[in-house]
Order: sequence, then structure tokens, then C-alpha cells
Amino acid sequence: MSILIKNGRVVTASESYIADVYIEDEKINAIGKDLKFSADQIIDATDRLVFPGGIDPHVHLDMPFMGTYSSDDYETGTRAALHGGTTMVIDFILQTQGDTLANALKTWQKKSQGKAVGDYSYHMAVTDFNDEVAKEVVHFIEEEGITSFKTFMAYKGALMIDDGQMVQLMKIVEKNGGLVTVHATNGDMIDSLIAKNRAEGKLSPLYHYLSQPEVTEAEASARFADMLAYTNCPGYIVHMTCEGALNAVRNATQRNQKVFVETCTQYLVLDASLYEKDFEGAKWVMSPPLREKKDQEALWSGINQGLVQVVGTDHCPFLWEQKKMGKDDFSKIPNGHPAIEHRMELLYSEGVHGGKISLTKYVEISATNAAKIFGMYPKKGTIAIGSDADLVIFDPNKKHTISVNTHHMNCDYSAYEGQEVVGKVETVILRGQIAIQNGACALAPGYGQFVKRGKTSKTVI
Ligand code: URP
Ligand code: ZN
Ligand code: ZN
Repeated sequence: MSILIKNGRVVTASESYIADVYIEDEKINAIGKDLKFSADQIIDATDRLVFPGGIDPHVHLDMPFMGTYSSDDYETGTRAALHGGTTMVIDFILQTQGDTLANALKTWQKKSQGKAVGDYSYHMAVTDFNDEVAKEVVHFIEEEGITSFKTFMAYKGALMIDDGQMVQLMKIVEKNGGLVTVHATNGDMIDSLIAKNRAEGKLSPLYHYLSQPEVTEAEASARFADMLAYTNCPGYIVHMTCEGALNAVRNATQRNQKVFVETCTQYLVLDASLYEKDFEGAKWVMSPPLREKKDQEALWSGINQGLVQVVGTDHCPFLWEQKKMGKDDFSKIPNGHPAIEHRMELLYSEGVHGGKISLTKYVEISATNAAKIFGMYPKKGTIAIGSDADLVIFDPNKKHTISVNTHHMNCDYSAYEGQEVVGKVETVILRGQIAIQNGACALAPGYGQFVKRGKTSKTVI
């Protein structure tokens, strides 16, 4: 199979220029002006942008959580991602406390193998650290190509580890070339605020938001950065939402420390006023919660200052019936929202079209930096000869409106219903095959491959 993309504006993290791109089998074979290859398919990309396929490093597919499962599985989730220009996702394997990492890996392999439409990898969430798990961590880095280890400073009793375990994990990960990632919020503070609000009969979704004030995230982010500095371990804070947490990372830079930061589309484009809609606010019950306009500004600035390197989604959808588990008590609403499909278009529309970020910054935060930080660059995350032919052909002027009626995620509402966006994913190519064309997915379940990742370091960016 060969494809020749003619006359598009090729955009990478460092430059943008008009060129042709020639793809043979799974790889990019040539880039240049007026390429003369004969190809099985020729795509005219005049007036279009050509981006590297998006990488969303924060999704939860078919994940057991809060007494139910997230409603997109590997098939529906990775297909919806492709529709939105995301050709690869990194999902989270959850260790069951008291059980091994190996057993958790087997469970997630069953969920993904033969089902994924797009490419994927896993972060390994360590929820119970001990000497046996330490040996498994080394095995995961050396043999399985899983080099990032997720930790939770919240969700006590299910996912949270304590600071002693965190430091031990960081030491072993640092020694072996991996990365520790974190959900950085102070679980004990949050649990006590939840208990207080429930005891006072404050049970609506608004109290989910009020139980997780900014300080809970700022404190945990600073503590995580301190533990990284102590252990010399590379670290990555997932789904950062607020100015206080960003300032904790900014402070860490004063000791010449690098802490990688991810924010998510929703924290850049939505705000906490949505929790004032009575139970409808459950659509946006996620942890950490949406914040204020001043936090959006801080995050956009953080992107331009290089403090925030990655934008993911934390895609963790639940059907409305599942959200209603918390009809009478916000603490029982499954946390998470559907977003995997909208990241590339929302980020383009609000960021590039909205004049907040440059085109090259867009590529950096939607694909290239994730590939670098998570050990798969330049196979993924760029447009270069020899890289996987994962490409998005994008119409920068096309306007459209997000709706549950047109999205492809397995979720019966949209968290962005009625939102107008400028810029549309037109054609998506994954490892040299047309994935999305004319609004349809051309790939079958099972096409998506597990991507083995390499080691990483603090100086990778
Ligand atoms: O609300 C969220 N974020 N749900 C998924 C689990 C997590 O904390 O990332
Ligand atoms: Zn989280
Ligand atoms: Zn998450």
C-alpha cells in the first residue's frame, strides 16, 4: 500500500512548510516538493494542514471504577479517537491491591487484543507497592516496554499509595530508566471535605467541586515534586487543572528540576460554573474538578512557557444511567467524562484559531512531547522519514458543532453539546492505512497494535 499526499502544509513541533508526503507500507518514505512517486492512492491536501497523528496519553477504556466500568471499550474508544485525529492512546492498567502487576497486565491484554482499532500502550498503575512489585517494575521496563508507572495520591482504599511507598517506587523507577506519573491531589483532605458535606446534607454535584479546592491539588503537586527531587526520579503530573499546582511546578524549576505536566482539554475550555446546573452537573463530575477562568489562563500561559508539555483528555465516559448512581449523593457519581474524540479539534479551535498558541506548539502538545516523554519518539509523534505513517489531514477553516448525535464515543450525552469549533479532521492515516475518510472508519477491530515503549529521562525535552 502506498499513499501520496500532495501540497499540504506539513506541521511538526519545529516548523511548517508546504510539501508532499509519500507513504509506503507503514512508514513515511519521502517528504519534499513535487514528489514524482506513483502511488495506490493520491490525496490532494491543498489548503489543508498535515499533522502527526495525535497521541492521547491519558484515557481509561473499559476500566473498573466506582462500582462500574467506563463505557468505551478498546474498540469504541480507539475508533472514536481516530475520528478525532488521535491515532494512539495510552490507557491505564490498574493493579488490584494485594495482587501482582502481571495479573493486571493479563486482564488489560484481554481487553485490548483483537479489539483495538487504533494503536495503544499502557501505563502501569501501582496501587500496592512491596518488594515483589519492585521486581515486577524492573521486568515491565526491561521486557514489556511499559516504562511509566502511575500513582494515586487520592482514592484511599482502592488506588492510593502512601508517601513511603511513593518514594520507594521512585527509587526503583529512577534506577531503571522509567517515569513515575501521578494523580496529584491530597486524598485525606478531600475525603474529610466529602464526609463533612455529606454529613451536612450537601449532596448535589456542586459539592463534588467544593470538596476538592485548589489547595488539595497544589499541596500534592508540591509534595510530589519534592519527592522527585529527593529521589532524582523523572516525574509527570497528569490532568493538572489549576494555577496553584502549576506554581508548585514553577517553584521546582528554581532548583533546576524538571517535572513534566499534562493538562486536559476540559480544563482549558470548560469551567466550574457548569456545576451550578443541579444534577446535570454530574456530566462534568471528574477529579480533579473543573476550575475557574483564572486557572484556564494560567494553563494556557503554562503551555507557552513550556511548563505544561502535554494535553490529554482523561477520557473516562459513563452513560447517563451510570452517572445516576449518584443521583442522591455526589460522592457516588462515577468520576469522568467523554472527550477522546474532541481533543485535537477543540485544542485547534480554542488554541490555534483562538490565537493562544502557534501551530508548532499545537503539534508539540498534542503529539510530539507525549512521544518523547513516553519513550516512542521518533517512531510516533512526528512527520519524518522512517517514522510511522500516522497522519491527520485537517481542514483549518471548516466549522462544525459538537453533538451527541454525531460523536462516535459510547456515551449517550456530550459534555460539549452545541459547542462550535473551527477546524475539522478530514482524513486520518494510521501506519500507512486510511483510518478515517469521508466520516467513516476504514479499519477493523484488531488493526490497533500495542506499542512497546523505551526508557525515558528528565532531559528528554
Ligand atoms: O474523574 C476522573 N479523572 N476519572 C478517571 C480517574 C482519574 O482520576 O483519572
Ligand atoms: Zn486521576
Ligand atoms: Zn485519569
